[in-house]
Amino acid sequence: MKILLFADPGIDDSLAIIYALLHPEIEVMGIVTGYGNVSVFDSTRNAAYLLDLAGRSDIPVIRGASQPLSGIPTTFYPEIHGPQGLGPIVPPADFQADVSPFELMFEIIEENIDDIVIVDVGRQTSLAFAFNLRPELMEEVKEVYLMGGAFMVPGNVTDVAEANFWGDPIATSVILNKAQKVYITPLNVTNRAIITRDIATYIFNHTNSPYKKLIPEVTNYYATFYDQVMPGLDGSPLHDVFTLYYLLNKDRTYTVKRDVRVAIVDGNRGQSIADFRMVYKEPEREHYIAMDFNYNHFIEDFIRINLADGGELA
Ligand code: BDR
Ligand code: CA
Repeated sequence: MKILLFADPGIDDSLAIIYALLHPEIEVMGIVTGYGNVSVFDSTRNAAYLLDLAGRSDIPVIRGASQPLSGIPTTFYPEIHGPQGLGPIVPPADFQADVSPFELMFEIIEENIDDIVIVDVGRQTSLAFAFNLRPELMEEVKEVYLMGGAFMVPGNVTDVAEANFWGDPIATSVILNKAQKVYITPLNVTNRAIITRDIATYIFNHTNSPYKKLIPEVTNYYATFYDQVMPGLDGSPLHDVFTLYYLLNKDRTYTVKRDVRVAIVDGNRGQSIADFRMVYKEPEREHYIAMDFNYNHFIEDFIRINLADGGELA
């Protein structure tokens, strides 16, 4: 499966990038970075650094948007994702990120239009720009996956809004209106896609992957934040990893088709809305929302992919 990954690494974005790189069924065609958890400068360096660690600098890193379409000043989250986005890890000061121009993204999509899918696990501004700049091409992309929204559960940034949809609801609306088919992995599932400290330690003890040390370091950092907001979890949600898992495991996940919209106005900005009444209006657009999944299958899959040396799951 060829994917173009939009991300703002960010801890769970980093774990998603690692999962995608290690997964034998995923071919990462490029990473488009953006502001969100951290600035676009840091997220770009982090993406390039993660590729460098695995000797995969052949995968292009494309720098995307630095702020939302609204122009409203954005908030970064060093208290959650670390001072530069990789928890306690800071790329060496002399590390040079090799950055490709935005235009390359269209070349990648054009060359692979029959089988490329887009996965966006960050604020959706860069992807909305792409739909604005090259609408005919972007409307040909068969599937778009978005990590975002919160259906029938509270948000994580406000009482109603999840961070990616809240960050740039105008961009999210553009994608919901323009993309051929959108699959959404919201907080109601991703909040339950937990990696515990024990699992991170297990991976550390059993893998020879280039990310051996990084996995427990970033996980434990993320878990320290979640200890405060979700006491007892002893771990942290893999929001962005779940989106990639979903891409390959839709048949194992309970999904509903509903028209989705996102609130743009202040007060309920970023709220994701869909019709969940017993008798609902037949959806007009190809929007699909992940609602439930098998946690054991998810976490075993995550562990297996991280045992990149082919180590067996005990
Ligand atoms: C989303 O926002 C960020 O905190 C995470 O990287 C994830 O993409 C969860 O709301
Ligand atoms: Ca993210």
